Amino acid sequence: MRPNPNMYAQSRRSGLLALAAERAQRYIRDVTERNVAPSNAAVAALAEFREPFPASPSAPEEVIAKLDKLGSAATVTTTGGRYFGFVNGGMLPAALAANWLAGAWNQNAALRVMSPVAAELEEVVLGWVCEALGLPADCAGGFVTCATMANFTALSTARHAILARAGWNVTEDGMFGAPPIEVVVGAEVHASILKALSLAGFGRKRVTIVETDGQGRMRPDKLPRLSERSIVCIQAGNVNTGAFDPAGEICRVAKEQGAWVHVDGAFGLWARVSPKYEHLTGGFGNADSWATDAHKWPNVGYDSGVVVVRDGAALRESMGITAAYLEAGARREPMHHTPEASRRARGVELWAALKSLGRSGLCALVERTCSHAQRFAARLREEGFEILNEVVINQVLVSFGSPDVTREVIRRIQEDGTCWCGGTIWHGKTAMRISVSSWATTEPDVERSLTAMIRIARECRAA
Ligand SMILES: Cc1ncc(COP(=O)(O)O)c(C=O)c1O
Repeated sequence: MRPNPNMYAQSRRSGLLALAAERAQRYIRDVTERNVAPSNAAVAALAEFREPFPASPSAPEEVIAKLDKLGSAATVTTTGGRYFGFVNGGMLPAALAANWLAGAWNQNAALRVMSPVAAELEEVVLGWVCEALGLPADCAGGFVTCATMANFTALSTARHAILARAGWNVTEDGMFGAPPIEVVVGAEVHASILKALSLAGFGRKRVTIVETDGQGRMRPDKLPRLSERSIVCIQAGNVNTGAFDPAGEICRVAKEQGAWVHVDGAFGLWARVSPKYEHLTGGFGNADSWATDAHKWPNVGYDSGVVVVRDGAALRESMGITAAYLEAGARREPMHHTPEASRRARGVELWAALKSLGRSGLCALVERTCSHAQRFAARLREEGFEILNEVVINQVLVSFGSPDVTREVIRRIQEDGTCWCGGTIWHGKTAMRISVSSWATTEPDVERSLTAMIRIARECRAA
């Protein structure tokens, strides 16, 4: 009997997946001990990837072996407990495992008919996200790549709704000749809002900038006169200080004057899950749209942004797509809520993460990382270094002295590899930013990182 070629392919595929799983598990086992930054040698070895487009096939086993040998060594260990760069989360075990399974499914999440499971889980998890973030249960939302895209989607929807009220159909007629819209942002606005504004045709510079206070919070007393043609962009969690704009007061003033309020809550909005931070997070539920990331504090893998909009019809009108073969069914269709059409089923991993954590687990993750941030701040202050921000959530800004000394400390910490932190400039001061965002960070991770930071900073100070 001739062998069935599909059977052969099947067993070979199983072997390949087992090989990949074995290598992935080895990587995960090593994560707790390996240097956070890759070695210079590992980065230099990436040159081995540079080859002309292969003229003939390679065995998949060889492809994976090469990827692991060169690729794994040149990763930054963001999934370990000692990565404190940018505002990057780790990846919860349930999210990673769901990612593997969903990879095997390879679902296109555009339409319900393409993937009933993707559409169903998006609907379920959108409800959970609204509940965790304290947003109205009947909001609409979409699953996008990142907070930048979530900001873009929300601002495009605001543009659509405001112009529709003014009798202008921006979807059909575009922005040229449209009634003007005033966009108001705080002086500490995140760059992703400015990018989103440029993509949505507002322009980065055509904004009214409102003064902020010493922690980067928008000052409500400095708001300009608003109208039904205004969009006010506020933040839940300043990328440097973690500070929250006073949403209650801003939303009240904006609503009285008919303005649309959009919240960039890329990471900070998740603090709403904990009653401990209510004094910071109150009032954000009164806005009209929200952007956040599941790949930050909830520790879902990349890429995983979420946009939520109070006026679901406006979201669908601005993001809907019409073509005879893409007609929406009666139920929620994912692609009518996002800029993308075909895309991966990213709601699956978010569902797995939130299901595995539950409300109490998510709350504990947020509170634990904030208390690690407090420990960093307290110990570094004790050592005589200046903490530049009020540490209200998970972000710490530390200066080690002059800009040159601080930069040198950051460089050496990154080179040392015990942990990883990046630099920033805050109100003219060069600082190192510690963002504790990973589920995997333990107290020993914090102590080990502090020991390395303090040793290096002392050496630099002495020099
Ligand atoms: C407040 C804020 N908004 C937006 C972003 C952009 O997020 P993303 O890179 O996922 O687009 C960040 C990233 O740290 C952020 O802190």
